[in-house]
Amino acid sequence: MTIGVICGYILFTMGAPNIDTIVSLAKRRGFVFPSSDIYGGLGSAWDYGPLGVELCNNVKQSWWRWLVYDRDDIDGIDSSIILNRQVWNYSGHEATFNDLLVDCRKCKSRFRADKVFERVDGNFVKTECPSCGANDWTEPRAFNTMLQTRLGAVAEDDPTALAYLRPETAQGIFINFLNVQTTMRRKLPFGIAQVGKSFRNEVTPGNFILRTREFEQMEMEYFVRPDAEHLKLVDEWVELYLEWFKSLGISRENLHLHEVPLDELAHYSKRTVDIMYRYFPERDEPERQWEELMGIAYRTDFDLRAHSSKALDPEGNRINPDSTEDLSYFDEATKQRFYPHVIEPAAGVNRTVLAVLMDAYSEKTNDKGETRVILKLSPQLAPIKAAILPLAKNKPEIVGMAKAIKRSLQPVLRAVYDDTGGIGKLYARQDEIGTPLCVTIDHQSLEDEAVTVRDRDTWEQERVKVAELAEYLERRLKATAPIQPTAVTTALDI
Ligand code: GAP
Repeated sequence: MTIGVICGYILFTMGAPNIDTIVSLAKRRGFVFPSSDIYGGLGSAWDYGPLGVELCNNVKQSWWRWLVYDRDDIDGIDSSIILNRQVWNYSGHEATFNDLLVDCRKCKSRFRADKVFERVDGNFVKTECPSCGANDWTEPRAFNTMLQTRLGAVAEDDPTALAYLRPETAQGIFINFLNVQTTMRRKLPFGIAQVGKSFRNEVTPGNFILRTREFEQMEMEYFVRPDAEHLKLVDEWVELYLEWFKSLGISRENLHLHEVPLDELAHYSKRTVDIMYRYFPERDEPERQWEELMGIAYRTDFDLRAHSSKALDPEGNRINPDSTEDLSYFDEATKQRFYPHVIEPAAGVNRTVLAVLMDAYSEKTNDKGETRVILKLSPQLAPIKAAILPLAKNKPEIVGMAKAIKRSLQPVLRAVYDDTGGIGKLYARQDEIGTPLCVTIDHQSLEDEAVTVRDRDTWEQERVKVAELAEYLERRLKATAPIQPTAVTTALDI
Protein backbone atom coordinates (compact mmCIF):
# COMPACT_ATOMS: atom_id res chain seq x y z
CA MET A 1 0.00 0.00 0.00
CA THR A 2 1.46 3.40 -0.97
CA ILE A 3 0.96 5.88 1.85
CA GLY A 4 2.84 9.05 0.91
CA VAL A 5 6.09 10.66 -0.23
CA ILE A 6 8.76 11.92 2.21
CA CYS A 7 12.16 13.23 1.05
CA GLY A 8 11.92 11.37 -2.28
CA TYR A 9 11.00 8.13 -0.48
CA ILE A 10 7.64 6.53 -1.06
CA LEU A 11 6.23 4.68 1.90
CA PHE A 12 5.38 1.29 0.47
CA THR A 13 4.68 -1.30 3.09
CA MET A 14 3.09 -1.21 6.49
CA GLY A 15 3.52 -4.38 8.49
CA ALA A 16 6.03 -7.16 7.92
CA PRO A 17 5.26 -9.34 4.87
CA ASN A 18 6.22 -12.49 6.84
CA ILE A 19 7.99 -13.68 10.00
CA ASP A 20 11.27 -14.26 8.12
CA THR A 21 11.61 -10.51 7.53
CA ILE A 22 11.51 -9.99 11.30
CA VAL A 23 13.97 -12.87 11.93
CA SER A 24 16.47 -11.18 9.65
CA LEU A 25 15.97 -7.69 11.13
CA ALA A 26 16.10 -9.09 14.66
CA LYS A 27 19.45 -10.78 14.05
CA ARG A 28 20.96 -7.92 12.01
CA ARG A 29 20.13 -5.26 14.57
CA GLY A 30 20.51 -7.09 17.89
CA PHE A 31 16.96 -7.91 18.94
CA VAL A 32 17.04 -11.73 18.87
CA PHE A 33 19.82 -14.21 18.02
CA PRO A 34 19.59 -17.97 17.41
CA SER A 35 20.67 -19.54 20.70
CA SER A 36 23.84 -21.65 21.04
CA ASP A 37 24.70 -20.70 17.46
CA ILE A 38 28.43 -21.39 17.82
CA TYR A 39 27.59 -25.06 18.57
CA GLY A 40 25.16 -25.43 15.71
CA GLY A 41 22.19 -23.97 17.59
CA LEU A 42 19.47 -25.60 19.66
CA GLY A 43 16.14 -26.21 17.93
CA SER A 44 13.80 -23.26 18.46
CA ALA A 45 15.80 -21.61 21.24
CA TRP A 46 16.48 -17.88 20.95
CA ASP A 47 18.57 -15.34 22.87
CA TYR A 48 17.36 -11.77 23.30
CA GLY A 49 20.08 -9.23 22.46
CA PRO A 50 20.61 -5.66 23.74
CA LEU A 51 17.53 -4.28 21.96
CA GLY A 52 15.38 -7.39 22.39
CA VAL A 53 15.74 -7.43 26.15
CA GLU A 54 14.70 -3.75 26.32
CA LEU A 55 11.66 -4.42 24.12
CA CYS A 56 10.61 -7.43 26.23
CA ASN A 57 11.07 -5.43 29.43
CA ASN A 58 9.01 -2.57 28.03
CA VAL A 59 6.15 -4.95 27.07
CA LYS A 60 6.21 -6.53 30.55
CA GLN A 61 6.38 -3.11 32.24
CA SER A 62 3.46 -1.82 30.19
CA TRP A 63 1.39 -4.88 31.18
CA TRP A 64 2.35 -4.67 34.86
CA ARG A 65 1.64 -0.94 35.02
CA TRP A 66 -1.71 -1.39 33.26
CA LEU A 67 -2.94 -4.22 35.55
CA VAL A 68 -1.11 -3.89 38.85
CA TYR A 69 -0.49 -0.11 39.17
CA ASP A 70 -3.31 1.57 37.22
CA ARG A 71 -6.07 -0.63 38.66
CA ASP A 72 -6.78 -1.03 42.35
CA ASP A 73 -7.93 -4.64 42.37
CA ILE A 74 -4.85 -6.62 41.25
CA ASP A 75 -1.66 -7.60 43.12
CA GLY A 76 1.49 -9.08 41.63
CA ILE A 77 3.55 -12.07 42.76
CA ASP A 78 6.64 -13.96 41.60
CA SER A 79 6.41 -17.67 42.47
CA SER A 80 8.96 -20.47 41.96
CA ILE A 81 9.42 -22.07 38.57
CA ILE A 82 9.90 -25.47 40.21
CA LEU A 83 7.00 -26.36 42.51
CA ASN A 84 6.16 -29.42 44.61
CA ARG A 85 5.25 -32.20 42.19
CA GLN A 86 1.85 -32.54 43.88
CA VAL A 87 0.88 -29.17 42.38
CA TRP A 88 1.02 -30.75 38.91
CA ASN A 89 -0.68 -33.90 40.10
CA TYR A 90 -3.72 -32.09 41.52
CA SER A 91 -3.84 -29.39 38.82
CA GLY A 92 -4.41 -32.23 36.35
CA HIS A 93 -1.27 -31.52 34.34
CA GLU A 94 0.39 -34.87 35.06
CA ALA A 95 -2.65 -36.69 33.71
CA THR A 96 -3.82 -34.39 30.96
CA PHE A 97 -1.15 -31.95 29.78
CA ASN A 98 -0.63 -34.01 26.68
CA ASP A 99 -0.15 -33.51 22.99
CA LEU A 100 -1.56 -36.27 20.79
CA LEU A 101 1.17 -37.58 18.50
CA VAL A 102 0.89 -39.54 15.27
CA ASP A 103 3.60 -41.13 13.10
CA CYS A 104 3.48 -41.57 9.36
CA ARG A 105 4.15 -45.30 8.85
CA LYS A 106 5.68 -44.65 5.40
CA CYS A 107 8.21 -41.82 5.98
CA LYS A 108 8.33 -42.11 9.82
CA SER A 109 7.68 -38.36 10.27
CA ARG A 110 6.06 -37.44 13.60
CA PHE A 111 3.36 -34.77 13.98
CA ARG A 112 0.92 -33.34 16.49
CA ALA A 113 -2.40 -34.90 15.48
CA ASP A 114 -4.24 -31.56 15.63
CA LYS A 115 -1.71 -30.02 13.22
CA VAL A 116 -2.18 -32.58 10.44
CA PHE A 117 -5.75 -33.83 10.92
CA GLU A 118 -9.02 -31.98 10.85
CA ARG A 119 -11.35 -32.44 13.80
CA VAL A 120 -14.99 -33.21 12.99
CA ASP A 121 -17.44 -33.78 15.87
CA GLY A 122 -14.49 -34.32 18.22
CA ASN A 123 -12.93 -37.02 16.01
CA PHE A 124 -9.81 -36.70 13.87
CA VAL A 125 -10.25 -37.12 10.11
CA LYS A 126 -7.00 -38.52 8.78
CA THR A 127 -5.48 -36.70 5.81
CA GLU A 128 -2.34 -37.02 3.72
CA CYS A 129 1.09 -36.82 5.36
CA PRO A 130 2.53 -33.33 4.69
CA SER A 131 5.99 -34.89 4.20
CA CYS A 132 5.36 -37.80 1.81
CA GLY A 133 1.67 -37.68 0.83
CA ALA A 134 0.83 -41.15 2.21
CA ASN A 135 -2.26 -41.73 4.34
CA ASP A 136 -0.99 -44.48 6.63
CA TRP A 137 -0.88 -43.33 10.26
CA THR A 138 -0.31 -44.84 13.69
CA GLU A 139 -3.16 -44.29 16.18
CA PRO A 140 -2.81 -40.96 18.10
CA ARG A 141 -1.06 -41.44 21.48
CA ALA A 142 -0.54 -39.06 24.39
CA PHE A 143 2.81 -37.40 25.08
CA ASN A 144 3.11 -35.31 28.27
CA THR A 145 4.72 -31.99 27.42
CA MET A 146 5.90 -31.00 30.90
CA LEU A 147 9.70 -30.72 31.00
CA GLN A 148 11.19 -32.95 33.66
CA THR A 149 14.16 -32.42 35.92
CA ARG A 150 15.58 -34.12 39.03
CA LEU A 151 16.24 -32.40 42.34
CA GLY A 152 19.31 -33.19 44.45
CA ALA A 153 22.20 -35.61 43.95
CA VAL A 154 19.99 -38.63 43.28
CA ALA A 155 19.97 -41.65 41.04
CA GLU A 156 18.79 -41.08 37.46
CA ASP A 157 15.65 -43.16 37.93
CA ASP A 158 14.70 -42.17 41.53
CA PRO A 159 11.00 -41.33 41.15
CA THR A 160 10.91 -39.28 44.37
CA ALA A 161 13.37 -36.76 42.89
CA LEU A 162 11.25 -36.06 39.81
CA ALA A 163 10.16 -32.42 39.39
CA TYR A 164 8.83 -30.31 36.54
CA LEU A 165 9.66 -26.91 35.12
CA ARG A 166 6.27 -25.17 35.26
CA PRO A 167 4.25 -25.27 32.02
CA GLU A 168 2.17 -22.26 33.14
CA THR A 169 2.69 -19.56 35.75
CA ALA A 170 -0.96 -19.88 36.82
CA GLN A 171 -0.50 -22.68 39.38
CA GLY A 172 1.96 -20.55 41.38
CA ILE A 173 -0.89 -18.05 41.70
CA PHE A 174 -3.54 -20.59 42.77
CA ILE A 175 -1.39 -22.11 45.53
CA ASN A 176 -0.73 -18.57 46.85
CA PHE A 177 -4.38 -17.48 46.69
CA LEU A 178 -4.89 -17.40 50.47
CA ASN A 179 -1.45 -15.87 51.16
CA VAL A 180 -2.26 -12.92 48.92
CA GLN A 181 -5.90 -12.60 49.94
CA THR A 182 -5.14 -12.47 53.67
CA THR A 183 -1.92 -10.41 53.60
CA MET A 184 -3.34 -7.83 51.18
CA ARG A 185 -6.81 -7.94 52.89
CA ARG A 186 -8.61 -8.48 49.61
CA LYS A 187 -12.32 -8.93 49.01
CA LEU A 188 -13.75 -10.43 45.84
CA PRO A 189 -13.43 -9.57 43.05
CA PHE A 190 -9.67 -9.23 42.87
CA GLY A 191 -6.83 -10.52 40.72
CA ILE A 192 -3.28 -11.83 41.06
CA ALA A 193 -0.81 -11.21 38.24
CA GLN A 194 2.46 -12.93 37.50
CA VAL A 195 4.99 -12.70 34.70
CA GLY A 196 7.71 -15.27 34.20
CA LYS A 197 9.20 -18.17 32.31
CA SER A 198 7.27 -21.32 31.49
CA PHE A 199 8.46 -24.47 29.77
CA ARG A 200 6.82 -27.04 27.51
CA ASN A 201 8.43 -29.90 25.66
CA GLU A 202 6.68 -28.85 22.44
CA VAL A 203 6.60 -31.58 19.80
CA THR A 204 6.65 -29.14 16.92
CA PRO A 205 8.25 -25.88 18.03
CA GLY A 206 9.01 -23.33 15.34
CA ASN A 207 8.19 -20.09 13.57
CA PHE A 208 10.87 -18.09 15.38
CA ILE A 209 9.73 -17.00 18.88
CA LEU A 210 6.11 -18.00 18.26
CA ARG A 211 6.41 -21.56 19.61
CA THR A 212 9.44 -22.41 21.73
CA ARG A 213 10.11 -24.82 24.59
CA GLU A 214 11.13 -22.00 26.93
CA PHE A 215 8.95 -18.89 26.82
CA GLU A 216 7.56 -16.16 29.01
CA GLN A 217 3.96 -15.67 30.10
CA MET A 218 1.98 -12.75 31.55
CA GLU A 219 -0.91 -14.37 33.40
CA MET A 220 -3.58 -12.98 35.67
CA GLU A 221 -6.13 -14.94 37.67
CA TYR A 222 -9.21 -12.84 38.42
CA PHE A 223 -11.16 -14.30 41.37
CA VAL A 224 -14.91 -13.70 41.44
CA ARG A 225 -18.00 -15.00 43.23
CA PRO A 226 -19.52 -18.34 42.10
CA ASP A 227 -22.67 -16.48 41.01
CA ALA A 228 -20.86 -13.81 38.96
CA GLU A 229 -21.63 -13.50 35.25
CA HIS A 230 -18.57 -15.52 34.23
CA LEU A 231 -19.18 -15.75 30.50
CA LYS A 232 -19.80 -12.00 30.31
CA LEU A 233 -16.61 -11.37 32.29
CA VAL A 234 -14.66 -13.31 29.66
CA ASP A 235 -16.02 -10.90 27.03
CA GLU A 236 -15.10 -7.91 29.19
CA TRP A 237 -11.50 -9.08 29.58
CA VAL A 238 -11.29 -9.77 25.85
CA GLU A 239 -12.28 -6.13 25.18
CA LEU A 240 -9.77 -4.81 27.76
CA TYR A 241 -6.95 -6.82 26.19
CA LEU A 242 -7.87 -5.70 22.68
CA GLU A 243 -7.48 -2.12 23.93
CA TRP A 244 -4.14 -2.94 25.56
CA PHE A 245 -2.79 -4.54 22.38
CA LYS A 246 -3.91 -1.50 20.40
CA SER A 247 -2.10 0.75 22.90
CA LEU A 248 1.08 -1.20 22.04
CA GLY A 249 0.66 -0.19 18.40
CA ILE A 250 -0.96 -3.42 17.11
CA SER A 251 -3.68 -2.60 14.61
CA ARG A 252 -7.15 -4.01 15.26
CA GLU A 253 -7.38 -5.48 11.76
CA ASN A 254 -4.50 -7.83 12.60
CA LEU A 255 -6.35 -9.14 15.67
CA HIS A 256 -9.19 -11.60 15.50
CA LEU A 257 -11.25 -13.49 18.09
CA HIS A 258 -11.60 -17.27 18.16
CA GLU A 259 -14.19 -18.99 20.36
CA VAL A 260 -12.50 -22.30 21.26
CA PRO A 261 -14.93 -25.18 20.47
CA LEU A 262 -16.17 -27.10 23.51
CA ASP A 263 -14.38 -30.32 22.50
CA GLU A 264 -11.03 -28.50 22.29
CA LEU A 265 -11.17 -26.74 25.69
CA ALA A 266 -8.39 -27.38 28.21
CA HIS A 267 -9.41 -29.72 31.06
CA TYR A 268 -10.05 -26.78 33.44
CA SER A 269 -11.98 -24.50 31.10
CA LYS A 270 -15.72 -23.97 30.57
CA ARG A 271 -15.13 -21.27 27.96
CA THR A 272 -12.03 -19.88 26.24
CA VAL A 273 -11.73 -17.05 23.73
CA ASP A 274 -8.37 -16.76 21.98
CA ILE A 275 -7.12 -13.46 20.63
CA MET A 276 -5.38 -14.37 17.40
CA TYR A 277 -2.76 -12.32 15.53
CA ARG A 278 -2.10 -12.37 11.77
CA TYR A 279 1.42 -13.86 12.04
CA PHE A 280 1.24 -15.33 8.51
CA PRO A 281 -0.06 -12.56 6.19
CA GLU A 282 1.72 -14.21 3.24
CA ARG A 283 -0.54 -17.30 3.31
CA ASP A 284 -3.24 -17.42 0.64
CA GLU A 285 -5.94 -19.10 2.73
CA PRO A 286 -7.22 -16.42 5.16
CA GLU A 287 -7.96 -19.00 7.89
CA ARG A 288 -4.28 -20.09 7.95
CA GLN A 289 -2.96 -16.56 8.54
CA TRP A 290 -3.79 -16.54 12.25
CA GLU A 291 -2.15 -18.00 15.36
CA GLU A 292 -3.00 -17.56 19.05
CA LEU A 293 -1.57 -14.47 20.73
CA MET A 294 -3.33 -15.10 24.04
CA GLY A 295 -6.32 -16.85 25.59
CA ILE A 296 -9.00 -15.70 28.05
CA ALA A 297 -10.45 -18.68 29.91
CA TYR A 298 -13.20 -19.23 32.47
CA ARG A 299 -11.45 -21.76 34.74
CA THR A 300 -14.42 -22.13 37.14
CA ASP A 301 -13.34 -23.06 40.71
CA PHE A 302 -11.45 -26.06 39.32
CA ASP A 303 -7.95 -25.11 40.51
CA LEU A 304 -8.76 -23.75 43.98
CA ARG A 305 -10.89 -26.82 44.72
CA ALA A 306 -8.25 -29.16 43.31
CA HIS A 307 -5.62 -27.78 45.72
CA SER A 308 -7.90 -27.65 48.77
CA SER A 309 -7.76 -30.04 51.70
CA LYS A 310 -11.53 -29.96 52.36
CA ALA A 311 -13.03 -29.95 48.86
CA LEU A 312 -15.20 -32.98 48.07
CA ASP A 313 -16.00 -34.70 44.78
CA PRO A 314 -19.64 -35.49 43.79
CA GLU A 315 -19.39 -38.82 45.69
CA GLY A 316 -18.40 -36.98 48.89
CA ASN A 317 -14.74 -38.04 48.83
CA ARG A 318 -11.91 -35.59 49.53
CA ILE A 319 -10.38 -34.44 46.23
CA ASN A 320 -6.99 -33.71 47.77
CA PRO A 321 -5.78 -35.65 50.84
CA ASP A 322 -2.24 -34.23 50.43
CA SER A 323 -3.00 -30.52 50.78
CA THR A 324 -2.74 -28.95 54.24
CA GLU A 325 -4.81 -25.89 53.38
CA ASP A 326 -8.37 -25.16 52.35
CA LEU A 327 -8.30 -22.44 49.70
CA SER A 328 -11.89 -21.36 50.26
CA TYR A 329 -13.06 -17.80 50.84
CA PHE A 330 -15.35 -16.52 53.58
CA ASP A 331 -17.73 -13.84 52.41
CA GLU A 332 -18.43 -11.47 55.33
CA ALA A 333 -21.50 -9.97 53.66
CA THR A 334 -23.41 -13.25 53.18
CA LYS A 335 -21.57 -15.27 55.88
CA GLN A 336 -20.97 -17.93 53.24
CA ARG A 337 -17.82 -19.93 52.54
CA PHE A 338 -17.08 -20.96 48.93
CA TYR A 339 -14.36 -21.52 46.36
CA PRO A 340 -14.01 -18.42 44.15
CA HIS A 341 -14.32 -18.84 40.40
CA VAL A 342 -11.62 -17.59 38.05
CA ILE A 343 -11.36 -15.67 34.79
CA GLU A 344 -7.85 -16.05 33.40
CA PRO A 345 -6.32 -13.82 30.71
CA ALA A 346 -3.05 -15.60 29.75
CA ALA A 347 -0.72 -13.87 27.30
CA GLY A 348 2.76 -14.66 25.97
CA VAL A 349 5.55 -12.08 26.17
CA ASN A 350 7.33 -13.51 23.14
CA ARG A 351 4.21 -13.68 20.97
CA THR A 352 3.34 -10.10 21.96
CA VAL A 353 6.87 -8.97 21.05
CA LEU A 354 6.61 -10.73 17.67
CA ALA A 355 3.21 -9.15 16.94
CA VAL A 356 4.51 -5.73 17.95
CA LEU A 357 7.55 -6.09 15.67
CA MET A 358 5.47 -7.32 12.72
CA ASP A 359 2.97 -4.49 13.04
CA ALA A 360 5.66 -1.82 13.50
CA TYR A 361 7.65 -2.91 10.44
CA SER A 362 7.46 -0.58 7.43
CA GLU A 363 9.56 0.08 4.35
CA LYS A 364 10.21 3.18 2.30
CA THR A 365 11.60 2.86 -1.22
CA ASN A 366 12.87 5.79 -3.31
CA ASP A 367 12.85 6.22 -7.09
CA LYS A 368 16.35 4.65 -7.28
CA GLY A 369 14.93 1.48 -5.76
CA GLU A 370 16.72 1.99 -2.41
CA THR A 371 14.73 0.67 0.50
CA ARG A 372 14.79 1.94 4.08
CA VAL A 373 13.27 0.02 6.98
CA ILE A 374 11.42 2.06 9.58
CA LEU A 375 10.30 0.30 12.76
CA LYS A 376 7.33 2.35 13.94
CA LEU A 377 7.36 1.12 17.53
CA SER A 378 5.19 3.02 19.98
CA PRO A 379 7.51 5.27 22.06
CA GLN A 380 6.65 3.39 25.28
CA LEU A 381 8.03 0.17 23.73
CA ALA A 382 11.00 1.54 21.74
CA PRO A 383 14.23 0.08 23.18
CA ILE A 384 15.92 3.48 22.78
CA LYS A 385 13.91 6.67 23.11
CA ALA A 386 16.49 9.14 21.77
CA ALA A 387 19.82 8.79 19.95
CA ILE A 388 22.35 11.58 20.43
CA LEU A 389 24.40 12.02 17.25
CA PRO A 390 27.35 14.41 16.74
CA LEU A 391 27.56 15.75 13.18
CA ALA A 392 31.38 15.82 13.27
CA LYS A 393 33.08 13.16 15.35
CA ASN A 394 36.55 14.69 14.85
CA LYS A 395 35.50 17.94 16.53
CA PRO A 396 36.12 17.50 20.30
CA GLU A 397 33.77 20.37 21.29
CA ILE A 398 30.85 18.80 19.38
CA VAL A 399 31.59 15.31 20.72
CA GLY A 400 31.93 16.68 24.27
CA MET A 401 28.63 18.53 24.01
CA ALA A 402 26.85 15.45 22.58
CA LYS A 403 28.16 13.18 25.34
CA ALA A 404 27.17 15.70 28.02
CA ILE A 405 23.64 15.87 26.56
CA LYS A 406 23.41 12.06 26.54
CA ARG A 407 24.46 11.92 30.22
CA SER A 408 21.99 14.63 31.21
CA LEU A 409 19.09 12.86 29.45
CA GLN A 410 19.77 9.36 30.78
CA PRO A 411 18.01 9.82 34.16
CA VAL A 412 14.90 10.99 32.30
CA LEU A 413 14.79 8.56 29.35
CA ARG A 414 16.81 5.80 27.68
CA ALA A 415 19.29 7.56 25.39
CA VAL A 416 22.38 6.39 23.47
CA TYR A 417 25.34 8.23 21.99
CA ASP A 418 26.50 7.08 18.52
CA ASP A 419 29.27 8.43 16.31
CA THR A 420 30.10 5.29 14.33
CA GLY A 421 29.09 6.61 10.89
CA GLY A 422 27.96 9.53 8.77
CA ILE A 423 24.70 11.19 9.80
CA GLY A 424 22.68 9.51 7.01
CA LYS A 425 23.79 6.06 8.16
CA LEU A 426 23.17 6.90 11.81
CA TYR A 427 19.61 8.04 11.06
CA ALA A 428 18.97 4.89 8.99
CA ARG A 429 20.16 2.64 11.83
CA GLN A 430 17.98 4.40 14.41
CA ASP A 431 14.95 4.26 12.07
CA GLU A 432 15.47 0.52 11.66
CA ILE A 433 15.52 -0.15 15.42
CA GLY A 434 12.54 2.09 16.09
CA THR A 435 14.14 5.03 17.93
CA PRO A 436 11.41 7.71 17.87
CA LEU A 437 13.71 10.76 18.06
CA CYS A 438 17.28 11.60 17.01
CA VAL A 439 19.13 14.61 18.44
CA THR A 440 21.90 16.04 16.27
CA ILE A 441 24.63 18.33 17.56
CA ASP A 442 26.32 20.46 14.86
CA HIS A 443 28.72 23.41 14.61
CA GLN A 444 25.87 25.85 15.11
CA SER A 445 25.02 24.13 18.43
CA LEU A 446 28.28 25.42 19.92
CA GLU A 447 27.12 28.97 19.17
CA ASP A 448 23.37 28.91 19.87
CA GLU A 449 23.10 26.14 22.52
CA ALA A 450 20.43 24.45 20.39
CA VAL A 451 20.19 21.04 18.68
CA THR A 452 18.17 19.48 15.87
CA VAL A 453 15.52 16.92 16.82
CA ARG A 454 14.47 14.60 13.99
CA ASP A 455 11.26 12.57 13.97
CA ARG A 456 11.51 8.88 12.95
CA ASP A 457 8.16 8.74 11.15
CA THR A 458 7.97 12.10 9.36
CA TRP A 459 11.72 12.83 9.11
CA GLU A 460 10.79 16.38 10.04
CA GLN A 461 13.36 18.37 12.00
CA GLU A 462 12.96 20.99 14.69
CA ARG A 463 15.52 23.19 16.42
CA VAL A 464 15.32 22.98 20.23
CA LYS A 465 17.29 24.79 22.97
CA VAL A 466 19.46 22.40 25.00
CA ALA A 467 18.02 23.82 28.23
CA GLU A 468 14.52 22.77 27.10
CA LEU A 469 15.52 19.47 25.48
CA ALA A 470 14.61 16.97 28.23
CA GLU A 471 11.15 18.43 28.70
CA TYR A 472 10.62 18.68 24.93
CA LEU A 473 11.61 15.02 24.35
CA GLU A 474 9.43 13.79 27.21
CA ARG A 475 6.45 15.67 25.81
CA ARG A 476 7.01 14.28 22.30
CA LEU A 477 7.40 10.72 23.59
CA LYS A 478 4.20 10.96 25.61
CA ALA A 479 2.24 12.24 22.61
CA THR A 480 1.14 8.65 21.93
CA ALA A 481 -0.58 8.20 25.26
CA PRO A 482 -0.60 4.74 26.85
CA ILE A 483 -3.91 3.05 27.59
CA GLN A 484 -6.14 4.80 30.11
CA PRO A 485 -6.75 2.96 33.37
CA THR A 486 -10.09 1.18 33.52
CA ALA A 487 -12.54 2.22 36.20
CA VAL A 488 -12.73 -0.43 38.92
CA THR A 489 -13.96 -0.50 42.45
CA THR A 490 -11.38 -0.97 45.16
CA ALA A 491 -11.73 -4.29 46.90
CA LEU A 492 -9.43 -3.65 49.86
CA ASP A 493 -10.83 -4.91 53.14
CA ILE A 494 -9.37 -2.29 55.48
N1 GAP B 1 -2.52 -20.74 32.05
C1 GAP B 1 -3.15 -20.91 30.80
C2 GAP B 1 -2.21 -21.12 29.71
O1 GAP B 1 -1.02 -21.33 29.93
P1 GAP B 1 -2.02 -21.28 27.12
O2 GAP B 1 -3.00 -20.86 26.06
O3 GAP B 1 -1.50 -22.66 27.06
O4 GAP B 1 -2.77 -21.00 28.49
C3 GAP B 1 -1.03 -18.88 27.27
O5 GAP B 1 -0.82 -20.27 27.13
C4 GAP B 1 -0.16 -18.12 26.31
O6 GAP B 1 1.22 -18.47 26.51
C5 GAP B 1 -0.41 -18.43 24.83
O7 GAP B 1 -1.52 -17.71 24.33
C6 GAP B 1 0.90 -17.97 24.20
O8 GAP B 1 0.92 -16.56 24.06
C7 GAP B 1 1.91 -18.36 25.27
N2 GAP B 1 2.52 -19.66 24.92
C8 GAP B 1 2.03 -20.89 25.19
N3 GAP B 1 2.86 -21.85 24.71
C9 GAP B 1 3.88 -21.19 24.11
C10 GAP B 1 5.07 -21.62 23.43
N4 GAP B 1 5.38 -22.92 23.30
N5 GAP B 1 5.92 -20.68 22.93
C11 GAP B 1 5.64 -19.35 23.09
N6 GAP B 1 4.54 -18.90 23.73
C12 GAP B 1 3.67 -19.80 24.24
